[in-house]
Amino acid sequence: MDIEVRPCASLEELRDALNAIGHSFGFENEFEDAERFARWIEMERMHAAFQDGRVVGGAGAFSFQMSVPGGASVPAAGVTVVGVLPTHRRRGALRASTREQLADARARGDVAAYLWASEGTIYGRYGYGVASRMGSISLPHERSAFAAPFEPRGTVRIVDLEEAARTFPPLYERVRAQRPGMFERSKDWWETRRLFDDPRRRQGGPKHRALLELDGEPAGYAIYSVKQDWRGGSSTGAVNLVEVITPTPEAARELWRWLLDFDWTSELNANVLPLDHELFQLLAEPRRMKFTVHDGVWVRMIDVGSALSARTFNDGEIVLEVEDAFLRENAGRWRVTPAGAERTDEAADLRLDVAGIGSVYLGGFTFRELVWGSRAEELADDAAARADAVFGTDVEPWCAEIF
Ligand SMILES: CC(C)(COP(=O)(O)OP(=O)(O)OC[C@H]1O[C@@H](n2cnc3c(N)ncnc32)[C@H](O)[C@@H]1OP(=O)(O)O)[C@@H](O)C(=O)NCCC(=O)NCCS
Repeated sequence: MDIEVRPCASLEELRDALNAIGHSFGFENEFEDAERFARWIEMERMHAAFQDGRVVGGAGAFSFQMSVPGGASVPAAGVTVVGVLPTHRRRGALRASTREQLADARARGDVAAYLWASEGTIYGRYGYGVASRMGSISLPHERSAFAAPFEPRGTVRIVDLEEAARTFPPLYERVRAQRPGMFERSKDWWETRRLFDDPRRRQGGPKHRALLELDGEPAGYAIYSVKQDWRGGSSTGAVNLVEVITPTPEAARELWRWLLDFDWTSELNANVLPLDHELFQLLAEPRRMKFTVHDGVWVRMIDVGSALSARTFNDGEIVLEVEDAFLRENAGRWRVTPAGAERTDEAADLRLDVAGIGSVYLGGFTFRELVWGSRAEELADDAAARADAVFGTDVEPWCAEIF
């Protein structure tokens, strides 16, 4: 019997759809997990794949506002919890779910979709392009000296969930305005997800919330846990960071110094850091943090014209010939100038698949990289250099949270 894809109609179906990916990740969701998840996602945006009336797969999309170069935000589908039971894989459930999900996102007015890919092989076929890079670090405590002398003047307080829910969001919003790729968080998202400490998901001790204050005002925050361990009577424990948000250079050096000076631990671990992280300049020995680069978020244009027109461009113009086998509405020639993107009949400078537009959209990759990676073809002299001059940004995209 064929696979049918439709939105979940009940919390029981939502729980079963979550358990499709849960099966691969090694956890099982209870009814109350589905109730909590339903606070973050509209039920109509949680698609499930059914066979013989049973849920065999799921694919969800959060209604996000994603920041783009220039500081604006666009409606974007935050694709999440994609999974198919191992008993039903490779029968088209993902393909059918993705088709429904993208059609639904377009009908709702989302101009882009983005996600964190468990494997790079899955989403390219649906027009997603790798759009940012991120880093993970593991820094030995004794190698964390700053390059320049530094006298802290701020104070750091451990705050409870209620105070964090009041003071952290405005700081996050300040950073979001500076960084393409971040999404707006609802009150529920903060309280029941980012700040919430779920004992079943702990990998070490409880989640702590630390607030940095400068002149008595909130200036930055860190969310972290401590995983303690000993060898030969000495600590081999670690501070594991969940998120560090510092809207100013001063807040960055204050809070990182505080985090790096943690007594009775031997290392600090962090994932999901932006590629242009300030620790490269702050630390005397940046190599010691073992900054390891991974692909970050993957972006898919849902409405190329509206998505491009929402971000800023530098002076110049470039004509792109876009191919899109999965969402044909995007295909064709687009002229991009500081005024935005519009359809054109002019000769194209570059030809590329829509995944390539996803890669350059937030500023995480260049046309030059696309050409050298055989993802774009130059049709005119210096086309990639000219396109990069128009699309160029001065800040790496960053999404602070894996969703
Ligand atoms: C990834 C997953 C959702 C794929 O679901 P599926 O129903 O088996 O996929 P489909 O049958 O619709 O396959 C669609 C296409 O993707 C390919 N594909 C699917 N999973 C793939 C993978 N992991 N690696 C490479 N190709 C893959 C299929 O071969 C097929 O290719 P084709 O269209 O050229 O024939 C499923 O294997 C799964 O649940 N994996 C574990 C959880 C996971 O990784 N989820 C993603 C979280 S970001």
